Amino acid sequence: MSQQLEQVKALIQLREKARLGGGQKRIDSQHQKGKYTARERIAMLLDEGSFEEYDMFVTHRCTNFGMEKNSFLGDGVVTGYGTIDGRLVYVFAQDFTVFGGSLSESFAMKICKIMDQAMKMGAPVIGVNDSGGARIQEGVNALAGYAEIFQRNILASGVIPQISAIFGPCAGGAVYSPALTDFNIMTKGTSYMFLTGPKVVKTVTGEDVTQEQLGGASVHASKSGVAHFAVETEEDGIRVIRDLMAYLPQNNLEEAPVLPTSDPIDRLDDSLNEIIPDSPNKPYDMYEVIGSIVDDGKFLEVHKDYATNIIVGFARFNGTSVGIVANQPKVLAGVLDNNASRKAARFVRFCDAFNIPLVTLVDVPGFLPGTQQEYGGIILHGAKLLYAYGEATVPKVTITLRKSYGGAYCVMSSKHLRGDINYAWPTAEIAVMGPSGAIEVLYGKEVAAAEDPVAFSAEKEKEYRDAFANPYNAARYGYIDDIIEPRNTRFRIIRALQQLATKKLVNPPKKHDNLPL
Ligand code: HXC
Repeated sequence: MSQQLEQVKALIQLREKARLGGGQKRIDSQHQKGKYTARERIAMLLDEGSFEEYDMFVTHRCTNFGMEKNSFLGDGVVTGYGTIDGRLVYVFAQDFTVFGGSLSESFAMKICKIMDQAMKMGAPVIGVNDSGGARIQEGVNALAGYAEIFQRNILASGVIPQISAIFGPCAGGAVYSPALTDFNIMTKGTSYMFLTGPKVVKTVTGEDVTQEQLGGASVHASKSGVAHFAVETEEDGIRVIRDLMAYLPQNNLEEAPVLPTSDPIDRLDDSLNEIIPDSPNKPYDMYEVIGSIVDDGKFLEVHKDYATNIIVGFARFNGTSVGIVANQPKVLAGVLDNNASRKAARFVRFCDAFNIPLVTLVDVPGFLPGTQQEYGGIILHGAKLLYAYGEATVPKVTITLRKSYGGAYCVMSSKHLRGDINYAWPTAEIAVMGPSGAIEVLYGKEVAAAEDPVAFSAEKEKEYRDAFANPYNAARYGYIDDIIEPRNTRFRIIRALQQLATKKLVNPPKKHDNLPL
């Protein structure tokens, strides 16, 4: 065999060794835990055969605790690029089979390299997290590595989409990289995220809590809002990422892909003409409205189990990717509270950063009153949503279906926050407050003194309802551009989006804004 052939053979062997990560035993152990390896995950995520790996031969440079005798090719993270539906993405997947996926200086530099490359190319970064955190033997060099990644997450924010899959442990300061990215996907039962684990919690607060209770996927998807998607399996998680990518542009200077649809643009849905119940206090399901108007009824919901009084997610109208924000009258009457405001504000800002038009469906009785909300900062959180809509320069189409009262009227993509097209159904009620509250304020004394208080307030409520609880008053001032037939909503939204396709609106130059955090 020639010398060159021998060298080629040695390369092939080295590659095979690198692909085994921490070795077959640890791969088997990973599988026994119901988890895939880093390379298997990348293979599932990317288009077949598209992956090109970087830095397979990188090793750590640590000499503490005898580490110089203990090293693995690749050093516990697989990095590179490939395509999803033919579009370039950069990926990293932490490899739990090598030192528990713990992060060393070299490991961090591998991730930084692909992040830098992604910024140069204007392509998304997808990271798979499965790690025991900072590599203890490396001390401050591991911490430095994390901080280098955080810095890049921050600079990339709003420039390229960043998506994090959490398919295993993600603890300590390591959680801040996913927290800085746009979307987190967690697997139920096999992933967890927390700043301090159950043992430290027990020592500090005396609280007994399991990993799952403290930072499992369900907890973060429903209570903290850290996870945007909680999935049953890694396959489901990968599917979510690929679906999500189809709604997103490659970067903030591009538009999201338009996907042709066979769903007619003028498809009418007669059931929408009868969906609003006669009683203003009776709910209906906003999902039915969304499902009826978007292309093929397809809706990728974000934060499905968090603050369910508001719905956010991606859909398409005549192939154009849009972000939908909709109050859900079925949950707490669709009221805006702290969590709903934060959830929607973050989503609106994401869409605006990435040129995704916003379609807002309004049925909101106002902000939730009470000490719990006030102490929790409803003034600031509500202001976030207000700010997000007010600063957004993407096309904004708003449909008011029923209630739109008080401050919530202003907030929910109103004309005054530069809403481009604001339509209302004939069932819309746009006023300072609902009839019963208004009569209480305006005629409290008269009601108490009336011979028949019930009849008196009913009469006044009717007067108020006729005057204000309709869309015509707002339309008279041009705050509503048109009152539309509900069954025609899809067509009117599509026409509006077509008109707005060339929208150009620029905010005043500034170093950065001062969003009420
Ligand atoms: C070095 C580590 C490691 C770490 C795990 N390993 N975590 N090596 N540094 N942080 C190694 C183990 O020694 C073991 O090596 C292998 O990875 C697998 O770990 P196991 O413990 O056998 O696996 P498992 O039972 O599944 O438990 C996983 C685990 C546990 C829960 C993640 O390993 C663990 O608690 N690790 C420490 C977590 C932690 O406290 N990290 C620091 C957080 S603070 P062998 O050779 O036996 O296979 C932090 C600060 C970041 O990260 C700050 C950023 C700003």
